Amino acid sequence: MTVYINGAFCPLEEAKVSVLDRGFLFGDGVYEVIPAYGGRLFRCDHHLERLERSLREIRIPNPHTREEWCGIFTRLVEACEGDEHGVYLQVTRGAAKRDHAFPDDIQPTVFAMANPIVTLGREVLEKGIDAVTRPDIRWARCDIKAITLLANVLMRQEAKEEGAMEAILVRDGLATEGAASNLFIVKDGTLVTPPKGPRLLPGITRDLVIELAETHGLPYRETDIPETELRRADEIWMTSSTKEVVPVTRLDGQPVGEGKPGPVWQRMYDLYQAYKAALRAGTVTG
Ligand code: PDD
Repeated sequence: MTVYINGAFCPLEEAKVSVLDRGFLFGDGVYEVIPAYGGRLFRCDHHLERLERSLREIRIPNPHTREEWCGIFTRLVEACEGDEHGVYLQVTRGAAKRDHAFPDDIQPTVFAMANPIVTLGREVLEKGIDAVTRPDIRWARCDIKAITLLANVLMRQEAKEEGAMEAILVRDGLATEGAASNLFIVKDGTLVTPPKGPRLLPGITRDLVIELAETHGLPYRETDIPETELRRADEIWMTSSTKEVVPVTRLDGQPVGEGKPGPVWQRMYDLYQAYKAALRAGTVTG
């Protein structure tokens, strides 16, 4: 497997970073996950815009132009077998003597790799997934795509131990997002997702789902989802770059709506797959 590390491509086994890297010592860095279908990057500009914002918010200079980034991703995807890929990239503040405050004259560490995406199988989508609710134990800047994911890791592990695939996070009585996904519910035919802000990651898949809803006349609202509304929802979906749009059919062991994927999900799933097909065919650009 070929990876990219600090300006060069090399086999995974040869890629090295210092043990003094602040990503390793402090989780001081940001990341992105960008899908590619048939070799075409999915919403690359949107992902790079979010990367630029994350870097700006934590005050790391962007080491590459958009063109350079796209060139790196394309080369990694071309070197990787399979047809659907997830490009992972991370930028950390770099390596220096350990001190919490930023060191002077430090070079960011840049790492990127492409892996085949394993999308959820038809059986899983036909049945839907289980989710559990968890108090959101993360920090107050969940809009930054930081590599510091300990709380997300713990909450996802707890979900797994309860036989569920995702944890839905609740803060101040509001359901915000998943441990690694955004949240949508359907109530009386209207799609609802929480508004962007510091409580959640501005998901690229979330944005596309809203765009598709808008284009195809599905009613939607960006508004808070109290936990009580979550439990009364007709449908619940989770969205992410790697899992796309996934129906949740059991919440904390109770059926969601009729306990099977709903009609609005099916419609959105079809629209999403059509978008992917258009990207492969080159009739949409990203
Ligand atoms: N995670 N919220 C959180 C906390 C996430 O970690 C993710 C994605 C999302 C969805 O964002 P997007 O649609 O842009 O993928 C929302 C990635 C896939 C990960 O950590 O692997």
